[in-house]
Amino acid sequence: MKNIILLTIATFLLVYCTPDTDLKKGSEAHIREITEAIDDAVLAKSDEDQADWLTYGGNYAETRYRKLDQINKDNVKDVGLAWALDLGTKRGIQTTPLVVDGVMFLTGPWSIVYAIDVRTGERLWTFDPELEGNSAMVACCGVINRGVAIYKGDLFLGVLDGRLMSIDAATGQKNWEVNTIYDETRTYSITGAPRIADGKVLIGNGGAEFDTRGYVTAYDPANGDQVWRFFTVPGNPAEAFEHPDLEEAAKTWTGEWWKQGGGGTAWDAITYDPELNQVYIGVGNGTHWNQKIRSPEGGDNLYLSSIVAVDASDGSYKWHYQTTPGDTWDYTATQHIVQADIEIEGQMRKVLMQAPKNGFFYVIDRTNGEYISAEPFVYMNWATGIDDNGRPIEAPGARYDDGRMHWLTPGSHGGHNWTPMSYDEQKQVMYIPTAHQSGPYANMPFGFDEVGGAGSALGANVSLGAKIYYPPVIDPQAPLPNTSSGALIAWDPIQQKKLWSVDQLFHYNGGVVSTSAGLVMQGDAEGMFYIRDADTGEALWEYDVRSGVIAAPVTYMVDGEQYITIAVGWGGSQGMSGNVAPRIHPGTVYTFKLGGDAEALEKLPPIKKQYATLGTDAPPVNIGEGFNLYMQYCMGCHMNPGVGGGAIPDLTMSSHSIFDNYEQIVLEGTLESEGMPNLGEYISKEELADIRSFVLHHAQQLGSGKNPNDVMVELAGMQYLADQNPPKRKDIR
Ligand code: HEC
Repeated sequence: MKNIILLTIATFLLVYCTPDTDLKKGSEAHIREITEAIDDAVLAKSDEDQADWLTYGGNYAETRYRKLDQINKDNVKDVGLAWALDLGTKRGIQTTPLVVDGVMFLTGPWSIVYAIDVRTGERLWTFDPELEGNSAMVACCGVINRGVAIYKGDLFLGVLDGRLMSIDAATGQKNWEVNTIYDETRTYSITGAPRIADGKVLIGNGGAEFDTRGYVTAYDPANGDQVWRFFTVPGNPAEAFEHPDLEEAAKTWTGEWWKQGGGGTAWDAITYDPELNQVYIGVGNGTHWNQKIRSPEGGDNLYLSSIVAVDASDGSYKWHYQTTPGDTWDYTATQHIVQADIEIEGQMRKVLMQAPKNGFFYVIDRTNGEYISAEPFVYMNWATGIDDNGRPIEAPGARYDDGRMHWLTPGSHGGHNWTPMSYDEQKQVMYIPTAHQSGPYANMPFGFDEVGGAGSALGANVSLGAKIYYPPVIDPQAPLPNTSSGALIAWDPIQQKKLWSVDQLFHYNGGVVSTSAGLVMQGDAEGMFYIRDADTGEALWEYDVRSGVIAAPVTYMVDGEQYITIAVGWGGSQGMSGNVAPRIHPGTVYTFKLGGDAEALEKLPPIKKQYATLGTDAPPVNIGEGFNLYMQYCMGCHMNPGVGGGAIPDLTMSSHSIFDNYEQIVLEGTLESEGMPNLGEYISKEELADIRSFVLHHAQQLGSGKNPNDVMVELAGMQYLADQNPPKRKDIR
């Protein structure tokens, strides 16, 4: 009897007093419990508790470094696939997955959120904000998204069309949404991951390729109420400035920049410093790119291409450091900002580090914005160094104002773009995915108002060297036009020097994570995922992930086992037209662990592409005009015609039936749900006929085996002809 009573009591205790942690893993109740616990204290501790991955950069300092060594140099050969989940998507994936006790949240193309059970590899729920295909037109660089933030049981998602949403992490149901766009007449987007700072959710926007004015907004996570907004560019001085520092900033501008917004969107780096209660904002390029159009009498144009520190509680200005004064090259400083405390010349300094597009690696005092040091981490020819005040020393001709087309490096993609670097705080080494490419810059013959925006409605920026008959200026030491490569480099931020470098075939490769086991992990454009020796760069392990990688991997612990996850989906700005992997496969999430033995997913055979052979008998002037129109309306997505296509098809390689259906596709929107916008309200039938003629002509020329340089010279002649004889036709725009 006594035993029975005891047993009954024990059963009672077991059933009714089970600690909540024994909830079925991956169940709604489990997710609710583990995610509701994520508050400011938990986020601040994520440096010590290295099991989960709770914020975009892995911790507030955004080091993307983990003190995990279960997977190490000795056993890395035993790492195998735990599971792979095919998302069935076909555009770029830039997400950093968040992981909480084996529950993973990540984003795919079109701002779709996926919740996945790491223990099984099963999808738990999917949240789709149901964007329209035409919404692709608001983004310069593809329908991509870099991830969600998590706080007190909710996820925060920035949607491509500019909405910020709160989603219940347990169910995938929307709690609230707000429109972050303050001026609906302008072309804003969101691709970045929101950040949690001082109990608020922060998000910036994209759109400086169009006609926007940048800002970062802080919202109340509970209900979406706006708490503060910091503008990165002053508005019209005739109206009141939104915050007092903008009055000083406005003195660094000339002309009527506010009419086109000025640019300066903060589309990626927002880093929170809980110790100083500051937020560091990485500010983007100007609208227009070309400063002569944007701010004709020059000036530094604050806060373009700057890091700005603001007070996390009210968004008030604290200090700024401008990496590229008077930017005219699209040298954003939106790249990932990493915080560290390091000893420099015998003194402990609280620093932040950034490798912005302009090619200099910066170490800045984050207490006051003071410049400490900077050195080029890639070959550059726009500047020759940095002066004692921390200003770049521009090379002669770098401002391309002599009627020639200057091939400058870094090009507009930058020496380093958004793909996150990783900082090993023990070794004090930064691992940076770098890019080597020159870009064309020419002073185009357009006035400020003529183009109705920084570019066209579709974002072909007038600062691009779109007139290919301009005499080129080429630096033989720089990457030659239309060539590119990349390198993963290890960089010593104290000595400001490169420790090692691994060359890569293409300039767009994945982000990086490093661990205390001396491992560095990165995927590349060729579709391989590598784990490398942090001391030498030597590849210790590799896995074929089928498509080029642009996202960064994460590593974390679940039930005592170390996992690595990488989300793979080729696309994004440089992946839309270029591709070096044998074939692009659907977006896939790969997860690895020691002893993982899941079967690899099927690798499809390479697709053989051929130039269309239909040809055209259109006169050269129409082909030249078709090329101009292509640059204005199609280039933004389809990019360089003839290079083979990436996540978006190369139009010179379409099938004949596609050429038969040009009007339906382009002017009626038959592929709209696939992201090919309906351009009927922008382009007339005659104009489309010229575009089609250009594409067919170009395809035939390239297909005939002619030297591509000769093909371009001939095309330059036709473009010149078209510019001398602009067609007279009804303008439907
Ligand atoms: C906002 C991005 C965007 C712009 C701008 C754009 N396209 Fe597209 N286009 C796409 C995408 C994405 C696809 C692939 C759709 C699919 O997956 O079927 C596509 C497909 C096409 C196709 C079918 C190609 C094939 O071989 O399957 C044609 C033709 C086409 N576009 C023509 C044009 C022309 C001409 C222009 C300029 C006037 C243009 N597009 C501008 C995104 C764009």
